Amino acid sequence: MLVFAKIKSVQQKIESLKNETNVGFVPTMGALHQGHLSLIARAKKENDIVVVSIFVNPTQFDKKEDLINYPKTIDTDLSLLKSVGCDIVFTPTAEEVYANNIQSTSFNFEGLEHQMEGKFRTGHFDGVGTIVKRLFDIVKPTKAYFGEKDFQQLQIIRSMVKQQQIPIQIIGCDIYRENDGLAMSSRNTRLTKQHRAISPFIYKTLKQAKIEFGTKNAQEVIDWVKNEFKKQPLLELEYFEIADEETLLPIKSKNSSKKYRAFIAVFAGKIRLIDNISL
Ligand code: PAJ
Repeated sequence: MLVFAKIKSVQQKIESLKNETNVGFVPTMGALHQGHLSLIARAKKENDIVVVSIFVNPTQFDKKEDLINYPKTIDTDLSLLKSVGCDIVFTPTAEEVYANNIQSTSFNFEGLEHQMEGKFRTGHFDGVGTIVKRLFDIVKPTKAYFGEKDFQQLQIIRSMVKQQQIPIQIIGCDIYRENDGLAMSSRNTRLTKQHRAISPFIYKTLKQAKIEFGTKNAQEVIDWVKNEFKKQPLLELEYFEIADEETLLPIKSKNSSKKYRAFIAVFAGKIRLIDNISL
């Protein structure tokens, strides 16, 4: 496994392999867990070489404190990546990626950016678009892998690639969960014991909401979920929405030709957790 911190060196290496090679790319912010590794496993299966980036992107954090507290576990990350057969790791500094201009570009993601996470995390998706575009320009992969854990992010990247006609295939990967159903996240290690113990309630409620959606209308399901969370003093519901998978707009009335998904954001103490389920 080769590790590069400089754009020029990683580009040269990838270029030297590229002619006869499919390149699979998995962008990450490190603090790797099984969720990330499941994306890498899929990329390994579908490509000749796999490139993983580890970069805690400052422009996508709306709260400075979250950026400062973001877990950094580079040594463990590198040994995990080696153990799953990653070929190339790109670990740039912010100066390397952004030069002297640590700022986002402004994007139009066809309105996707104004829904859900966009309402609560100002500028987040501009930051994501900026860094993903930059990493795509550097790595120039054949396929890039994103988790459905961050479904809105996945759709936003698809929109960017489509609008800018970037010749990269975007692959959405299933949410990888703990045995008790909690979606894996680098934030989970920051939960208190009490909050960790109660947090599987989020996915349990999503699964029940999916069943309720079979017989109830969307507003009834939303009310049911809100009520469930009222009974749970350790968890604070930020939003629960049922939306069209393509547009991410809230459902108006059920249309059998459309695919819907339920999205949730919850505070477990100070830690914000997100999850979603296809309905
Ligand atoms: P990060 O949170 O490190 O996640 C990297 C990738 O792993 C994302 O595509 C995310 O959706 C996926 N992922 C995280 N947890 C997962 C889980 N439990 N199951 C499946 N996939 C999971 O997302 C980012 O970094 C950044 O925004 C990034 C795209 C790297 C841009 O900075």
